[in-house]
Amino acid sequence: MQRTSARGNWSSAIGFILAALGSAVGLGNVWRFPYITGQYGGAAFILLYIGCVLAVGIPILLAELLIGRRTQRNPVGAFRILRPRSPWVVTGWLGVVSGFVILSYYAVVGGWVLHYLYLSLINSFSGKSPEQITALFANLNGQPWLQVFWLLMMMLLTILVVSRGVSRGIEAGNKIMMPLLFLLLLGLLVYALQTDGASAGLEFLLRPQWHKIGPAAVLEALGQALFSLSLGMGTMVTYGSYLSRQTHLVRSAFFVGLGDTLVAILAGFVLFPLVFSFGLEPSAGPGLIFRTLPIAFAQLPGSYLVALAFFVLLSFAALTSAISLLEVVCAYFVDEQGWARKNASWILGTMIFVLGIPSALGEQFLGFMDGLATNYLLPLGALLIAVFTGWVLTRDELRNAFSAGEISPFRFMGWWLLIRFISPVAVILIFLHQLGLF
Ligand code: PHE
Repeated sequence: MQRTSARGNWSSAIGFILAALGSAVGLGNVWRFPYITGQYGGAAFILLYIGCVLAVGIPILLAELLIGRRTQRNPVGAFRILRPRSPWVVTGWLGVVSGFVILSYYAVVGGWVLHYLYLSLINSFSGKSPEQITALFANLNGQPWLQVFWLLMMMLLTILVVSRGVSRGIEAGNKIMMPLLFLLLLGLLVYALQTDGASAGLEFLLRPQWHKIGPAAVLEALGQALFSLSLGMGTMVTYGSYLSRQTHLVRSAFFVGLGDTLVAILAGFVLFPLVFSFGLEPSAGPGLIFRTLPIAFAQLPGSYLVALAFFVLLSFAALTSAISLLEVVCAYFVDEQGWARKNASWILGTMIFVLGIPSALGEQFLGFMDGLATNYLLPLGALLIAVFTGWVLTRDELRNAFSAGEISPFRFMGWWLLIRFISPVAVILIFLHQLGLF
């Protein structure tokens, strides 16, 4: 037990929930979800997405948290404890590798956010023409070393929090950033709903365009659900491993899963009214929040504060997710290799910074890393975790991992059937689609 307490623990249930929500709520919610909703036609896609979260996301989230809490280890150690000397440990390895890969480019995009935070701080948007604003992004992309600088800043912030430990660093940071993030989001929502484009934006979001929903949309929704809930690489195993048996896991999984979804949808309700108020293109793709949104900020009343609030919110979202990515990698070196946490966070953080440089120097490489992670690493990890939970662990092992009264027999059966049949099939379909099989 000595070893367990030396690893660190959450100091409160709410601290854990905010940290898990902080991991889940990230660029995926504010940057990616709105633009794919824009591309796949609003309400119909949102409904589909909610279905994926309920049927696949929350069951896998619960499985990861359960494995973490039961073993009190990082993903590699967790599989070693549950099935010693079996190849399943590869699932843990895959998670650590994914942590390296994802954080290396995630921190580059996080760096763009910091740059835009700086631009809004020095009031660079107001009064500029749309062409000048679009040029700001091209300008950033044309200065690779500026991107490396912001990548470095992003990694430094992440390392500083993680090196302080689970409760004094990660939990404390999330306890400040997450409530502020919600407040900023609500403030921006009230503001956005009063702009001229509010009704067009709402109509776009609320009127289902079923004809845009096909197999591609379903798979996009599934992949997005995994990425947005931080699943498939053991983030939630790691965060679950700092929990005691007292925390109600089923409730926590629902809270985190639905809370993350709510933030994504609210972000849509902030963005689309602004998009329609200024005749921007709702399906503008990945550039939506960098290339086009500041055009709206340039012309709105009170734009200085609105832009600032938006990029503070986005910085918090990116940072709390980056923290969880670095934590997975660190937890492995702390638990399994006996490194001190401070050394682990500085050494590994520096390595990830170096690995991120190619993504900062070229957008193609960033796209490649993103594709590698979201199309292959995370779905593969999620598939392995679902199969391990549904087919390798026995039903008795699973029941015993829950605390008394934490899950009713009925809900247990429902969860078990979902994780055993629905989740693996859903993820396999993502793969077949990627391989171009249908
Ligand atoms: N969930 C985060 C987001 O939506 C990204 C992430 C993926 C974080 C995987 C950790 C692990 O931005």
